Amino acid sequence: MLKDKKILLGITGSIAAYKSILLTRLLIKAGAEVKVIMTPAAKDFVTPLSLSTLSKNPVLIDLFDAASWANHVMLGRWADVMVIAPLSCNTLAKMTTGLCDNLLLATYLSATCPVIVAPAMDEDMWKHSTTKNNLSKLESFGNKIIPVEKGELASGLYGDGRMAEPEAIIQFIENIFFLKKDLLGKKILVTAGPTHEALDPVRFIGNHSSGKMGAAIANEFANRGAQVDLILGPSSLKINTPNINVINVESADEMFNAAVEKFASADIAVMSAAVADYTPAEFSTKKIKKNTDTFVVELTKTKDILKTLGAQKKNGQLLIGFALENNNEKEYALNKLKSKNADLMVLNSLNDEGAGFGYDTNKITIFEKSGKETVYEKKSKQQVAKDIVDKIVNMMMYV
Ligand code: CTP
Repeated sequence: MLKDKKILLGITGSIAAYKSILLTRLLIKAGAEVKVIMTPAAKDFVTPLSLSTLSKNPVLIDLFDAASWANHVMLGRWADVMVIAPLSCNTLAKMTTGLCDNLLLATYLSATCPVIVAPAMDEDMWKHSTTKNNLSKLESFGNKIIPVEKGELASGLYGDGRMAEPEAIIQFIENIFFLKKDLLGKKILVTAGPTHEALDPVRFIGNHSSGKMGAAIANEFANRGAQVDLILGPSSLKINTPNINVINVESADEMFNAAVEKFASADIAVMSAAVADYTPAEFSTKKIKKNTDTFVVELTKTKDILKTLGAQKKNGQLLIGFALENNNEKEYALNKLKSKNADLMVLNSLNDEGAGFGYDTNKITIFEKSGKETVYEKKSKQQVAKDIVDKIVNMMMYV
């Protein structure tokens, strides 16, 4: 797949640089043409000689030496893709601010091709708000980030921050070139996250949904060419994908209004939000005081968004619901599929380890109207999103 592709590999100063040697070898084996740029600090971790031998090209480090000047603009134009692996915290920070004190950074600023980065750092650095902000900034520039892995770190500690394995990086690069654009022109509506039902100006009733599953679904649709309206309840997720229009809402009622409006022009709607089933009957405009020993809140049912859209569904529109259950899973999922007039129901069982709210993984079963059920293994939420979208695309052929 990577035959004759031109890949510019940037290596920064990080222990994970040893993996770049294997990455270079695998890229060459896959038929790619590879040019390596190292930051001066990277030389302390791997030798230019190993990399020039493997890449079959001189390794570039300096912007200029006594006799020549490295043409970073042409390098940036030469490449089909620039991959910075490993990406250290230092280079990450410089990339976000446009600092340009070495050849790698100058080339990054000149690159007209897609840029992919594979961060590598210790867990505490990985979790620091500055790192998160810097990565969000790179994403907003359109750069793609290969998620770090969990494992043993250079510090000897165990946790998040390991650079992705070379094989995973190759897979990621291949996806850039061979992204399926099978949903070009389609309009998608996704609901995600929890809702907050206000009791007074400072308190609400909510749930633990993170919105990660819905965001991954929105992302998968967008990657495949669709235009997505993502109606997102209160969540810490930052979404900066060009073809995802995020509509932030707080309450079930706000989510209902936004969903009804967007559904009219949608081809597909995926209701992955954990919408509150009940909301306080009264909202107190003044903060409620604790002057009684007991306090009873009367709740009224919220409007069921999925069911409402199911009733409004026109020919050609597809509607997908979620069911989170911990007993009689199949029976409840099938009942919801039917009573809400959905086309697919995605079941999360609370009995499955690593599935449900907050996790980065999920394990699902998809039920179809015909009664067919497909059971999937536990996977990352990105992979689960792919499975769900694949199933929907498959179904589109029959509507
Ligand atoms: N849903 C919705 N609007 C609501 C409630 C739920 O759109 N007011 C959607 C969810 O996004 C999800 C599906 O309906 O796709 C879940 O069905 P639901 O019957 O609400 O499940 P639970 O909330 O788990 O209901 P129950 O507690 O009765 O199982």
